[in-house]
Amino acid sequence: MRIIHSVSELRAHLAQQRSIAFVPTMGNLHEGHIELVRMAKQRASCVVVSLFVNPLQFGPNEDFDKYPRTLEADCAKLEGLAEVVFAPQVSEMYPEQQTLYVEPPPIANELCGAFRPGHFRGMATVVLKLFNLVQPQIAIFGKKDYQQLAIIRQMVTQFNLPIEIVGAETSRAADGLALSSRNQYLSAPERTEAVYLYRTLTHLATELKAGNHNFALLERHAGQTLANRGWEVEYISIRSQHSLGFPALGGHKLVIVAAVRLGKTRLIDNLEVCL
Ligand code: PAF
Repeated sequence: MRIIHSVSELRAHLAQQRSIAFVPTMGNLHEGHIELVRMAKQRASCVVVSLFVNPLQFGPNEDFDKYPRTLEADCAKLEGLAEVVFAPQVSEMYPEQQTLYVEPPPIANELCGAFRPGHFRGMATVVLKLFNLVQPQIAIFGKKDYQQLAIIRQMVTQFNLPIEIVGAETSRAADGLALSSRNQYLSAPERTEAVYLYRTLTHLATELKAGNHNFALLERHAGQTLANRGWEVEYISIRSQHSLGFPALGGHKLVIVAAVRLGKTRLIDNLEVCL
């Protein structure tokens, strides 16, 4: 496995590769990421993993500075799975001030985008830059970041990028909590409480499948239940899987998306529901 920090070395090293599967990450790898890398390995002869905490997608009051950076441990986990680890410095990815951006579609201003202005613009911009550098045939993203995945799919289609985007199921702890680098911010009692997010989503899914389609009421009750337990709810919303817009009457492929705060930790999760 080769660990590469510079763009020029990355380009030279990948020049001869004809079959590349790419897993972009911000590092601090957990089992969820490793599962994405295993999927990549089944699909291409060369697996590239990027480890880059992208400043462009963090707001001024977000956790960019304290986001965990664990290069050595990450590389140890990738040994035997990835051919290349790309871990650039910020100055390597942004040699001059970034004044050109990928302007994401209007859906980027809803859900997480309503609470993290500019996040998806910064995310889509760095993903396009990484795609240009790695030039993969396949890229793998977790479905946990459902809105991110939807925006990347639209970017790839609308910019005619010759990349197959694969969405991987969310990896969960035994109690159902979606794996996330931010889970480590949770105190022990918060970690115990955190399972209620997934329980709320599964309860909503059960209601939907049982024929309760009063979406607004379901969302309100779910939010109230978590708020009564001390959570701060940014949104719990029932959307259409493909567009992430509000479901059309009789729409069958739904996804329940949620972002909540438990103490200082922001958690997101979602559950697909087919009616
Ligand atoms: O999902 C992430 O870890 C990041 O948003 C990504 C896709 C690596 C871009 O920085």
